[in-house]
Amino acid sequence: MATRQKSAKKSAKTKQPHVEVRSNTKRESKAPRPSDSIEAAKGKLGVMIPGMGAVATTFVAGVEAIRQGLAKPIGSLTQMGTVRLGKRTEGRSPKIKEFVPLAGLDDLVFTGWDIFEDNMYEAASNAGVLDYRLLEQLKPFLSEIKPQAAVFDHNYVKKIDGPNVKKGKTKMDLAEQLRDDIRNFRKSSGASRLITMWCGSTESYIEPTAAHQSVASFEKALRENDDLIAPSMIYAYASLMEGVPFANGAPNLTVDLPVMLELSRKNDAPICGKDFKTGQTLMKTVLAPAFKARLLGLSGWYSTNILGNRDGEVLDDPGSFKTKEESKLGVLEHILQPSLYPELYGNIFHKVRINYYPPRGDNKEGWDNIDIFGWLGYPMQIKVDFLCRDSILAAPIVLDLVLFLDLAQRCSELKGRGIQEWLSFYFKSPMTVPGLYPEHDLFIQLMKLKNTLRHLKGEELITHLGLEYYD
Ligand SMILES: NC(=O)c1ccc[n+]([C@@H]2O[C@H](COP(=O)([O-])OP(=O)(O)OC[C@H]3O[C@@H](n4cnc5c(N)ncnc54)[C@H](O)[C@@H]3O)[C@@H](O)[C@H]2O)c1
Repeated sequence: MATRQKSAKKSAKTKQPHVEVRSNTKRESKAPRPSDSIEAAKGKLGVMIPGMGAVATTFVAGVEAIRQGLAKPIGSLTQMGTVRLGKRTEGRSPKIKEFVPLAGLDDLVFTGWDIFEDNMYEAASNAGVLDYRLLEQLKPFLSEIKPQAAVFDHNYVKKIDGPNVKKGKTKMDLAEQLRDDIRNFRKSSGASRLITMWCGSTESYIEPTAAHQSVASFEKALRENDDLIAPSMIYAYASLMEGVPFANGAPNLTVDLPVMLELSRKNDAPICGKDFKTGQTLMKTVLAPAFKARLLGLSGWYSTNILGNRDGEVLDDPGSFKTKEESKLGVLEHILQPSLYPELYGNIFHKVRINYYPPRGDNKEGWDNIDIFGWLGYPMQIKVDFLCRDSILAAPIVLDLVLFLDLAQRCSELKGRGIQEWLSFYFKSPMTVPGLYPEHDLFIQLMKLKNTLRHLKGEELITHLGLEYYD
């Protein structure tokens, strides 16, 4: 977590997120939230995507393919997941999309920004993720979605450059242009609600400075063209100023800054991030909790990847890689808690590598060599070889985040809280309020997410205590 600030700390104390898993006491079940504290999902939901590359096009094409009945929303919790309610004996497990009022897929309308001029059909064809025959069926729809000119700074993404870029005297001018784009899209699409979903390239590593600490200092820095304001922050600022929730799929700071938390709370525009949890880190956050559960020690975890898409090319630059590396490395420390278990996890060698290897395109291969030790210290090894498809894993995450962030903004209990920690499930490097360590264990994250939904609807939280079955 990059944001550490006194004022944010203070407000965190008075405004703790209401999402912790607590014991299933009478007090909780007596304090249901009326479901009418969630506004209905009326009208269209506009999805605005900075970065119309592999992930964005796989997501949009996928939504359209599902709408046309050509494919199924596999991997999406909002579309296929269920939530158990009440006792195991009650047999109540509705689909999540029937339990809480989510926007329907037919209500989604799309726009985006990119430094390249390709429309979504061309961009999807170049990304090479989806089968040509499927793309041909979707061509009339995808060709209509054309990127607006981007706010871009080559210094933040060194490996690419493109012609479709806004010009402005100051970064504040650029922010104003983005705000115009947002207002125009709201009008032209007829959307009643909007969401911004960062699917742009990973920007170079930077740390927060004084400029990022408050709205006043950030706006001054925008007017003064401060080098340490990255393009993604300008999109975030513009969105939050327009009251639009923002999710960050990359590891850049973007909304993980005090200024954005302040704006998010002030304008009831929820935020979440960072970095989609898709392939190797997904596996890490499944395996590491298993080692800890069984008190198996860990001496080393070597993770390496090859991938050949544009994301891989961008990550070939040391600045962008450093941002990604930080995001991937934090996971083990938080799950294994070496300060609580020094003999088991006090001395871990953890290494993450990503190598750009064009022949594989979007089909990444991630290897993990894991050195563990058991009873009496005897060593063992585990090897994982995950031949995955990056954007196929990311697309359903994008869909769920869009629908859940929209839900959060319609929900009186969530919209003014800023960071939506209950969406940590989807991120490698989940954002939390300052002073709170992030939860990385996938199953705790899922429980937190589902308990948040139960809580919003006044259902009992599920703790798995279950003694009552044996009364
Ligand atoms: N696919 C995954 O599994 C996965 C997982 C975690 C995170 N991510 C992150 O998601 C992001 C998107 O991944 P991808 O595979 O689609 O990459 P991609 O390279 O195919 O697409 C990124 C797009 O962003 C555009 N772009 C860069 N800077 C921009 C700016 N300032 N404004 C507008 N557009 C801009 C690029 O031109 C490109 O078209 C990357 O940051 C990646 O690290 C992806």
